[in-house]
Amino acid sequence: MKILMVCLGNICRSPLAEGILTHKLREAGLTDWQVDSAGTGGWHVGQQPDPRSIQAAKEHGIDISMQCARKFSAQDFDRYDLILAMDQSNYNNLKHLAQEPAKMSKVRLMLSYVDESDLSDVPDPYRGDASDFEEVFQLLDEACEQFLAVHLD
Ligand code: 4NP
Repeated sequence: MKILMVCLGNICRSPLAEGILTHKLREAGLTDWQVDSAGTGGWHVGQQPDPRSIQAAKEHGIDISMQCARKFSAQDFDRYDLILAMDQSNYNNLKHLAQEPAKMSKVRLMLSYVDESDLSDVPDPYRGDASDFEEVFQLLDEACEQFLAVHLD
């Protein structure tokens, strides 16, 4: 199973989502799953995750400092089994790139996995502070937990 986490810049939210799910899969001994991330925008291509995302992950024992931002490519629709968009805007960007419904059938909103969530979007923390990054970490941790519960059933 190959999963791609997608946000706008691929430096704040999707690197955290990649790190958290990878960590949970490793803890569960599931070595044949692959998790990656990409951004629909190209401004940060080649960069490490935002230092505040690196720090939020580190506080929970997860190292994401080796990740490198890349831009989502239309070929990713063929390369991955499941594409998880962090917010509705990312989802709409992917819809525009997909052009055909079959490709969009692989795309889900990340928070669709969270039961009883008031939020449908993982908030963009780029202009926020450390507490916003911690909130994003908690949302993604819950989403990854429930994602695994669904897929490991
Ligand atoms: P991300 O956050 O989509 O969670 O990586 C952002 C990072 C950079 C920008 C916007 C959002 N930006 O405008 O450069």
